[in-house]
Amino acid sequence: MNEVEVWWARVDQARPEFLADLNSVERERYARYLRDADKARFLLGVTMVRRLLGARMSLPPANVVLDRTCRDCGKPHGKVRAEGVELSVTHSGEWVGLAIGTAPVGLDVERIDAAQDVDGVARMSLAPDELAELARAHDKPRAFATYWTRKEALLKATGEGIAGLQSVVVSGPDRVAAVVRWDDRVGPAQLVDVAVGGPTEVDAGHLAALAVLSAEPPVVRVDQFRV
Ligand SMILES: CC(C)(COP(=O)(O)OP(=O)(O)OC[C@H]1O[C@@H](n2cnc3c(N)ncnc32)[C@H](O)[C@@H]1OP(=O)(O)O)[C@@H](O)C(=O)NCCC(=O)NCCS
Ligand SMILES: [Zn+2]
Repeated sequence: MNEVEVWWARVDQARPEFLADLNSVERERYARYLRDADKARFLLGVTMVRRLLGARMSLPPANVVLDRTCRDCGKPHGKVRAEGVELSVTHSGEWVGLAIGTAPVGLDVERIDAAQDVDGVARMSLAPDELAELARAHDKPRAFATYWTRKEALLKATGEGIAGLQSVVVSGPDRVAAVVRWDDRVGPAQLVDVAVGGPTEVDAGHLAALAVLSAEPPVVRVDQFRV
């Protein structure tokens, strides 16, 4: 079965003692973030990966071997990888998310920003059909965040990142999440919207989507990360 676990943590769950489990590359990246909220989101993402994989592998979190090599430049800021599982980390606003699957996964969360200049960024990221539908939306920031998370989830599953945004077309905000056009990328992809926050607490101020590179629709289990 194509199962995917999605874990959410709130940014205020980050604690300084989590730093003890980070490797030297992760500590260096943590130190380079200027804003406390960015530090907290990064630290929490690393901690979720290390603790959840450590529990699966019966290893202390610090001993989980992670590869963060960027496929574009070789620096350690790429998609996080571990042996035997597929992972995707995402952070925005109040939330940090982690997807764990058996097929390649991409998870993207965005805080809906009511003050955002949606039109400017939409022109650089949406395909013509998507732009036309966005123009008809009543709540443009929410509609744009729906497109962005769905597209970005797909591109995080493939590892391409934002460079491919306009070459992927997804269903619009009033429709169920689906891939409309995937150009010449290899193989099938599944796309689903995911509630942000966990089974007992849904935060409507954020949106998230999950992509899985598989022929079979995923069975998604959403949970809140407890520390
Ligand atoms: C990398 C990228 C996909 C992240 O998107 P974002 O919305 O800014 O941030 P998110 O919080 O959703 O995702 C960040 C996580 O994505 C993962 N990631 C990094 N590169 C990735 C890629 N190419 N594909 C999938 N996931 C990637 C990392 O795990 C990162 O979290 P971590 O470093 O804290 O563990 C996006 O910034 C991008 O496409 N950038 C352009 C490519 C780029 O800048 N490459 C680096 C320079 S060579
Ligand atoms: Zn890079």
